[in-house]
Amino acid sequence: MATEEIQQEEQPATTTATGESSPQVYINQLSKHVGAEVTLRGWLYNLRSSGKLLFPQLRDGTGVVQCVVFKKAVAEEVWDALKNLGQESALSIRGTVRADERAPGGFEVDVVGAEVLHAVEGYPITPKEHGTEFLMDHRHLWLRSRRQHAILKVRHTVVRAVRDFLDNDNFTLADAPVLTPAACEGTTTLFEVDYFNDEKAYLTQSGQLYNEATAAAFGKVYCFGPTFRAERSKTRRHLTEFWMVEPEMAFAHLDDVMNLAERFVSSIASRVLEERQEELKVLERDTSKLELIVPPFPRLHYDDAVKMLHEGHERGELDARFEWGGDFGAPDETYISKQFEKPVMVHRYPAAIKAFYMARDPERPELALGVDVLASEGYGEVIGGGERATSLEFLEEQIKAHELPREAFEWYLDLRRYGSVPHAGFGMGIERCTAWMCGIEHVRETIPFPRMLYRIRP
Ligand code: 4AD
Ligand code: MG
Repeated sequence: MATEEIQQEEQPATTTATGESSPQVYINQLSKHVGAEVTLRGWLYNLRSSGKLLFPQLRDGTGVVQCVVFKKAVAEEVWDALKNLGQESALSIRGTVRADERAPGGFEVDVVGAEVLHAVEGYPITPKEHGTEFLMDHRHLWLRSRRQHAILKVRHTVVRAVRDFLDNDNFTLADAPVLTPAACEGTTTLFEVDYFNDEKAYLTQSGQLYNEATAAAFGKVYCFGPTFRAERSKTRRHLTEFWMVEPEMAFAHLDDVMNLAERFVSSIASRVLEERQEELKVLERDTSKLELIVPPFPRLHYDDAVKMLHEGHERGELDARFEWGGDFGAPDETYISKQFEKPVMVHRYPAAIKAFYMARDPERPELALGVDVLASEGYGEVIGGGERATSLEFLEEQIKAHELPREAFEWYLDLRRYGSVPHAGFGMGIERCTAWMCGIEHVRETIPFPRMLYRIRP
């Protein structure tokens, strides 16, 4: 059973004005109180009426329950207070729990008393359709709707699965700083911040360089926190602030990273299937697609991925002919991933399009020992990672070639001066993973308050 549910047992009983008392419970705990009188606190999700009956739907964050008010069963003030109550009014309701197979959550509550805590008029988000911009402007309220609630519950499970997997696999959490003196993933997507004494700092693009230091201290580590990219792209896969989990392992090679990635992603999918059936139903997710996410994942050499794109182009399924050496665009990734039922791991990209720290393939030094995991169903890259260069001289050259400020990387070069060993790791964006698990179009709904090119509010 989820720990969350254990913590959400009973709360202290409240006593009403007339001296009656009934335990305060959460909606997802109603099954334990069938036949008993309880008090629920929450917000009015919806209200229907029919003559001498009112059907207020109450939501309390753990679920939504339909309540039934018979005019004769409650005091007149209660009836009057409820009958025209606006959506999202806050209230507490006292009533008897009744199991009802036809009810959405399996239960209904026959109301004996209610107290309006805050009556609301004109809640902006109504059950009618609203445009995305309107909803994004009202994100602080939109979070209360059923679909958004379901998505963020899935996100919560993804995060928990990530932590549990790594914690159980002997990884030590060692978080990386958010304010950093230098770029990790290229200088074009840096957010600059004024630090003290005219110094510039940057919001981190990835904790990887710090992970490499902590991996030499703890062996297997991960960092997990907000990450920033000043991305000028306005796509359904890009946020300017997103959460990335990054495991890193000492004494590991590219193959070890691929082995880890497929176990990692599979454990997340199976956890979501285990814990979030209700939410996946709300999202109308085809769960058979998630059931396919089990090791092993196909592994595809970059050269073979390019061949695949060429074939697609010849068949007229792709507009432009892909040139060997380039990075895959979203349509290329989608095309490649559609050739497989499972996620696919594309490895050994041209070094020229990858970050400065990547180790080279000894057989073909123009290739980097990197891997991208492309999610199934065309969701695109969810994981990027690989093996890191170990040679001091090589990295000194790379830092120069990438025009990176050498002094900011001196500490990093120390890792190659003192006990340099093969090591490797990856990063996974939580939002892209959550969008994939939920089967939804855009990453903006997978984080409570998304930050994008044209959006920093609310
Ligand atoms: O492929 P990326 O850029 O890899 C790194 O940053 C490595 N240093 C990680 C490592 O090896 N420790 O980013 C990793 C993942 C992507 O696969 C994607 O899931 C996510 O981070 N990501 C984004 N998610 C949302 N919006 C963006 N703008 C993202 N950029 C990357
Ligand atoms: Mg990448």
